[in-house]
Amino acid sequence: MEVHHHINMLFTWLPLIFFINLITTHSLTIPRLSPFKEQTLHDLATMVSNDTKDVETFYYKQVLDHFNYKPKSYNTFDQRYLINFKYWGGANSSAPIFVYLGAESSIDGFPNGIGFMSENAATFKALLVYIEHRYYGKSIPFGSREEAFKNASTLGYFNSAQALADYAEVLIDIKKTLQAQNSPIIVVGGSYGGMLASWFRLKYPHLAIGALASSAPILYFDDITPPNAYMDVVSRDFKEASETCYETILNSWSEIDKVASQPNGLSILSQRFNTC
Ligand SMILES: *[C@@H]1O[C@H](CO)[C@@H](O)[C@H](O)[C@H]1NC(C)=O
Ligand SMILES: *[C@@H]1O[C@H](CO)[C@@H](O)[C@H](O)[C@H]1NC(C)=O
Ligand SMILES: *[C@@H]1O[C@H](CO)[C@@H](O)[C@H](O)[C@H]1NC(C)=O
Repeated sequence: MEVHHHINMLFTWLPLIFFINLITTHSLTIPRLSPFKEQTLHDLATMVSNDTKDVETFYYKQVLDHFNYKPKSYNTFDQRYLINFKYWGGANSSAPIFVYLGAESSIDGFPNGIGFMSENAATFKALLVYIEHRYYGKSIPFGSREEAFKNASTLGYFNSAQALADYAEVLIDIKKTLQAQNSPIIVVGGSYGGMLASWFRLKYPHLAIGALASSAPILYFDDITPPNAYMDVVSRDFKEASETCYETILNSWSEIDKVASQPNGLSILSQRFNTC
């Protein structure tokens, strides 16, 4: 179980926020919001099921820039997506398409990691699609990670608005190829991917009839939520489990602040808590 409060919601009412700044450094270390590490998910994948054998890999020739007409905008890169046809009722019966919108990691392992998709597929006779987010996994523009993450010129195309437009193009192409114009699309995502799912439904309502966002902090931006909103939720979690535990932790902060303000205080804390 995740420690933090788990929220599942369907969103239709969000303010329009299309950009989040994922880039804080010029290194190849990419900040992540999701609770899973890729490795963990992969391990989980082999344990949970072996659906992978039904999953086929495809690549879509994606444009670098959906919003400008500069010559460079028309550069392309191969965007990876996976499809599981096993449960699909087919275009002729207008069977739905469930789409997992990739977040800040490679799409490897996800066909087995997203229970909502595989557990509901048979009931709805759904086609399962998993699309990788640009700049992750095998969906790297500019030929290599080194080039893609080089500087502001190449990183400028690394944002959620471009990612959403990528997903729209891939889905239009899939529907056309499968002649599945009447198959409704439901987009699904968790954490940052859940934010993408919500935004996708808002921005491309003609493509997705619904979105499921899990653990998605879609309103967690400056000046929208109270500054301590997240901390309040975490505190409530602890309080519900044990009032004493809550009090003990609460009282510890001032002690920690006291030590921290001493000369060498931070290194004392570092040693005591064995931080790295
Ligand atoms: C999935 O396949 C792997 C490799 O063939 C095997 O080791 C594993 O036991 C399988 N898992 C399940 C749940 O069947
Ligand atoms: C779907 O319907 C079309 C048009 O009626 C038909 O040509 C096609 O064979 C059908 N496909 C399947 C898989 O049944
Ligand atoms: C990024 O690198 C390329 C190639 O070396 C260069 O042409 C471009 O001006 C650089 N952009 C920035 C913002 O530094």
